[in-house]
Amino acid sequence: MTKFETPSPFQQEFQVIRKLNPDQFKTIRDMLYRHSGIYFNENKQYLLESRLNRRLNELNQDSIEEYLKYIEQPGNKQIELSFLYNHVTINETYFFRYAKQLNAFSAKIIPALLSKKRATGNNQLRIWSAASSSGEEIYSIAMYLLESMGFSMKQWELDIFGTDISPKMLERAREAIYGCNSFRSPEPEHVRWVDKYFTKINGTQSLDQTIRSMVRFDYLNLNDSAAIRRLRGMDVIFCRNVLIYFDQPTKIRVINNLYEILNPGGYLLLGEAESLHQLSSVFKVEHYPGAFVYKKE
Ligand SMILES: C[S@@+](CC[C@H](N)C(=O)[O-])C[C@H]1O[C@@H](n2cnc3c(N)ncnc32)[C@H](O)[C@@H]1O
Repeated sequence: MTKFETPSPFQQEFQVIRKLNPDQFKTIRDMLYRHSGIYFNENKQYLLESRLNRRLNELNQDSIEEYLKYIEQPGNKQIELSFLYNHVTINETYFFRYAKQLNAFSAKIIPALLSKKRATGNNQLRIWSAASSSGEEIYSIAMYLLESMGFSMKQWELDIFGTDISPKMLERAREAIYGCNSFRSPEPEHVRWVDKYFTKINGTQSLDQTIRSMVRFDYLNLNDSAAIRRLRGMDVIFCRNVLIYFDQPTKIRVINNLYEILNPGGYLLLGEAESLHQLSSVFKVEHYPGAFVYKKE
């Protein structure tokens, strides 16, 4: 079998699980942490091990020592780190996730931002999904905007974009073809939008150009402060369900950076089970039915 051939189902079933010794665990954990801010503590060793094994199977490599030598060879490190993220991060996402917050975003936050901008003659609106995974979140946001703003959208210079550390997820996001797992909202309004903006092709749903053309995607590592700070002038940042992967100092650094690049009066939206408790006290909390958001005053 060549290096990149996929093992047969028989081979996969009987594949040996290679265990990490403490030094190897530390080497790989620290490498991932330095680059991405994703931190695996000792009780997560099995998780890193099982994901690493998947990568070794893909490369058809027998041992972790062999893999560590391979990753240190010139030119391999960057590629391997990208591949490792594809395995070690959880990309779980779906359309209209945390709908109560999205409702507040379109019914309250956007109208408030637009009327403030109108008053100052500013027609730019920048919305960023900071860990966009395969795109469901930022495309949902685009649908909410199009549905709520309609034709008046043309008066605005919109910059709606998603970023992620995983090249594989960015590729999927740009492709915009989704399986049934991406659609979980039973809300009649969302069901209607799926009918309106998707085309069924061989059991998958392909997103129409109307929505795709509203959004762009780029690579961005949230652990890279300089990369975040290059963005500037954000009106709304969605940073949902990614902070959980970082340790406390990294979370604090990321939040400080997001604060810096938000416009005064801009908003930070976290995931349903997340808060800024013990991370930052500079934002003001705004409460809406079933959701809350953070505002830079
Ligand atoms: C669980 S998904 C969240 C997707 C979406 N925001 C949502 O809430 O449905 C987490 C995403 O964070 C990305 N991620 C993990 N570490 C990252 C980092 N350091 N920089 C940017 N993205 C990262 C992963 O690749 C993954 O796509």
